[in-house]
Amino acid sequence: MDAATESATGAAGPLHTDWSTEGIVRRRDRYYAATQRAFVPYKTPLIFQRGQGQYLWDEKGNKYVDLLGMNVCVSVGHAHPKVTAAVKAQVDDLQHCTTMFYHPTPAHFAEELAAKMPAGADWVVHFTNSGAEAIDLALVMAQAFTGHIDMLALRNAYHGATMGAQSLTGISGFRHNVPLLGGIHHVANPDPYRGAFGADVDAYLAEIDRTIQHSTSGRLAGLLVEPVQGYGGIIELPPGYLKAATEKVRARGGVLIADEVQSGFGRTGDSFWAFEAHDVIPEIVVMAKGIGNGFPLGAVVAQRHVAEVLADKFYFNTYGANPVACAAGRAVLQVLDEEGLQANAKTVGAALGQALQRLHQKYEIIGEVRGRGLMQAIELVRDRRTREPATAETATIFELTRDLGIVVSKSGPNRNILRMVPPLCLSLDDIPQVETALDACFSRAAAAA
Ligand SMILES: Cc1ncc(COP(=O)(O)O)c(C=O)c1O
Repeated sequence: MDAATESATGAAGPLHTDWSTEGIVRRRDRYYAATQRAFVPYKTPLIFQRGQGQYLWDEKGNKYVDLLGMNVCVSVGHAHPKVTAAVKAQVDDLQHCTTMFYHPTPAHFAEELAAKMPAGADWVVHFTNSGAEAIDLALVMAQAFTGHIDMLALRNAYHGATMGAQSLTGISGFRHNVPLLGGIHHVANPDPYRGAFGADVDAYLAEIDRTIQHSTSGRLAGLLVEPVQGYGGIIELPPGYLKAATEKVRARGGVLIADEVQSGFGRTGDSFWAFEAHDVIPEIVVMAKGIGNGFPLGAVVAQRHVAEVLADKFYFNTYGANPVACAAGRAVLQVLDEEGLQANAKTVGAALGQALQRLHQKYEIIGEVRGRGLMQAIELVRDRRTREPATAETATIFELTRDLGIVVSKSGPNRNILRMVPPLCLSLDDIPQVETALDACFSRAAAAA
């Protein structure tokens, strides 16, 4: 037993924490399973110690603009005082209350979440601990409600890592070589830039017809979509697609499930939920990440007549509706409203998009800049005509971003997309710094090439 381990397990005093790079790396490498160890972005470790608003500090005191929000979880800003206060108050009183007992905090939060859904439907909430758990429940709900098995999902989608969510995910890198669930059919992704049928929405819709005709029983449980694909590289469903696709699915008895895990809570700027841009109301909406500003929380919000089908069976997520997580969730909704963060996402997202467009004009390697609100992306290509993914070049530029004080994500099935999904409190004042940093990364990479 080494000294640090000894003091960590010793009887007296607070637990010792070893902040040395060597200590953290050694413990991770020794004790993390490969599944948790392998997911690291940079060549060398980046250790974060503190966050405030849209900023992060590493353990040496270096400051970063956080354009990733810890994988889209930090919605209202790191260490937001209202979230912190709500959580602290709840932690002092009661840290867990299983759902078989009654507590007001999750009940209030369910009411407040339901109020964020489109009017005219009767919405009910089931709290989970994560997005993937919520996706799994949504799948069970859709199949139980319709009595059908076959589900459509989109290629290039990411829905999580559990067996059900992974089966619905349409990117090979997230699908393990094990027998995933049957009855799931991935249709062509309507991606105007890289999709099989370019910008031809009708062709993607016809592909749904063909898939139903050839790969399913003809009866559908539903269609699952991210209205804006996140890990896939910030790809918005094109206008007209979702409404028409939903009509096809409903004609076969299925329901629409919207995965708002990344795109929800005002992030796209135009609406609270990204599906609202498409003139459709889903039967089931899945949410997580930004709902809790980093606290483990997810939810399935469904129309009552759909959710009710599971009433006679036991379905229990041990930490679902945990009062501490729900206290965080309530504070998030309050702060989003009080600070006008949806409107901020629209304004600041537009400014970020314009900055990225200026870089597009300047650097040939940028094939496309796209996004809505504070979901923005730069796709890097070797040739703007062939659109060959610039995977190695993206890795080089990505490594530079941290040195220039910004945290972004390297995304997409080809790992050639820089994705920006910051806390929704990113401000206009941050944009020049972000633009200058990215500019320096692209010019340094070009000079070294
Ligand atoms: C769109 C989307 N859906 C579902 C999930 C799964 O959420 P979780 O990681 O909380 O299980 C994710 C996670 O990244 C996601 O991006």
